[in-house]
Amino acid sequence: MESDKIIELSQVCFQYPGAKSPTLKISQLDIFKKEKVFLYGPSGSGKSTLLEVLSGILQPQQGEVKILGENLVKMTSHQRDRFRANHLGYIFQSFNLIPYLSVEENITLPLVLSPSRRSKLTSADVSAEVERLCQHLGLGDLKSRGVTQLSVGQQQRVAVARALLGNPELILADEPTSSLDHDHRERFIRLLFEECEARGTTVLFVSHDRSLEKIFTRSLSFNEINQGGAE
Ligand SMILES: Nc1ncnc2c1ncn2[C@@H]1O[C@H](COP(=O)(O)OP(=O)(O)O)[C@@H](O)[C@H]1O
Ligand SMILES: [Mg+2]
Repeated sequence: MESDKIIELSQVCFQYPGAKSPTLKISQLDIFKKEKVFLYGPSGSGKSTLLEVLSGILQPQQGEVKILGENLVKMTSHQRDRFRANHLGYIFQSFNLIPYLSVEENITLPLVLSPSRRSKLTSADVSAEVERLCQHLGLGDLKSRGVTQLSVGQQQRVAVARALLGNPELILADEPTSSLDHDHRERFIRLLFEECEARGTTVLFVSHDRSLEKIFTRSLSFNEINQGGAE
């Protein structure tokens, strides 16, 4: 039977090389398909580290990290890179847009990196989907503009369009709203949610700022799920 869990983490321990104690010690974390989960915790507690473990960028020393039923820990690093490109959309705190590419080129980058994500769309679909996302996210006239010529709020919406293109099953968002004021933050998350609801995408959003938690379907305290961290 296909599981309704999209993230299933068990007995995970992750320690940075040279650190005195593990940053992550998580006995269990389950996230279900189509949930929109808000995970809050103070700066430096290990939220970004957890997202890197969930996306297979970092390998834990112990435990299982299952995404869509597949254990990342058992994969080769090449398989993990491929899995990430195929199934995950990652919205970084600093957006990680490529400065010498246009808005449209940044948005379509995941399709260049993932043939399987690309294969879900025809070329005509790609143009139509880029156009639709840009319209919905308020980037309609900016497609050919260089991303360095955008405001922070516009850059953030480019990062969202990039994460969504090609329909990855899971979106991981690492405090992408910290540079916006409250009204813009809420509007940004609502746009993200509208797109995710239309596609059945699951969202895991981490932040130190709890003011946005009420618009999510579930809220979790990082310090309650994690026994690791600074001594
Ligand atoms: N590459 C690294 N090497 C060693 N320690 C790191 C590294 N990255 C983060 N840390 C440490 O791990 C802890 C958690 O960091 P991080 O996951 O960035 O927390 P958060 O995202 O909650 O602010 C911090 O103490 C930080 O200094
Ligand atoms: Mg962080």
